[in-house]
Amino acid sequence: MKTHGLSGKARVAAVLGWPVSHSRSPRLHGHWLRRYGIDGAYVPLPVRPEAFPRALRALADLGFAGCNVTVPHKEAALAACDAVSDTARAIGAVNTVVIRDGRLLGDNSDAFGFIENLRQGAPDWRPLAGPAVVLGAGGAARAVLHALLQAGVPELRLVNRTRARAEELAAALDRDGRLKVGDWDEREALLEGAALLVNTTALGMSGQPPLELSLARLPPEAQVTDIVYSPLETPLLAKALARGNPVVDGLGMLLHQARLGFRQWFGTEPEVDAALRRAVLED
Ligand code: ATR
Repeated sequence: MKTHGLSGKARVAAVLGWPVSHSRSPRLHGHWLRRYGIDGAYVPLPVRPEAFPRALRALADLGFAGCNVTVPHKEAALAACDAVSDTARAIGAVNTVVIRDGRLLGDNSDAFGFIENLRQGAPDWRPLAGPAVVLGAGGAARAVLHALLQAGVPELRLVNRTRARAEELAAALDRDGRLKVGDWDEREALLEGAALLVNTTALGMSGQPPLELSLARLPPEAQVTDIVYSPLETPLLAKALARGNPVVDGLGMLLHQARLGFRQWFGTEPEVDAALRRAVLED
């Protein structure tokens, strides 16, 4: 960790996870701290699940500006904070904590990160352009669905291998009947007329099975995005590119979600650009 140059007034933030060694957040925030010449640090803290509420509380006593929370603590953080945003409550998880006057304020930046990544990478995509097909019903899907509902997408078609999980998500998030659940076997037929296709499953990630999906019925102008970013060009994105669909990779969601915490802890609105992507992708 390069913390030389810190003064006694340095602002400190952290990421709490178990394990935390895989987290790219220290690299990400470290890049911004250097780039903006900020007197601050961002450190990875491995915290066991049983110690999480105590550890989070301790950050307030230690004068931390706040933290990110990653697997497996995101749901526990919802209960451990003194107050949580409506977004975090709707998504059912906290990934960003701001500490103010000793109080832990929980928020969730994943929905923001998802939509900002689309806006930057797909400036021509419009929420009202048409239905969105969302594959998967895990924690990531929750944030994506929340973002798309908030953005005003007129119809969401949610398909998941385990249909019951998709039904649960729809029941929890849908207020006005825009979210429709389909069977996993129907996923190709549901691409008909779609304006956006999002993979939120782990399928296509290095070490995971591929996502089996023919795009034959997807309109050629439909936007395709994957939340998997390792590899950056997933088989789904490669397939979409080969038939001319516009694509956005998943790395940007990680980068954009980080803006929310950085701005509040360090007081600077950071930029997501090619240099940041390179810094985060470095081994
Ligand atoms: P996360 O919180 O990262 O979204 P998760 O909660 O484990 O992770 O969800 C993983 C998603 O990938 C789920 O939608 C899962 O489907 P199930 O709900 O049926 O488990 C989906 N997934 C994982 N492996 C899959 C596979 N082989 N085929 C289809 N979907 C799969």
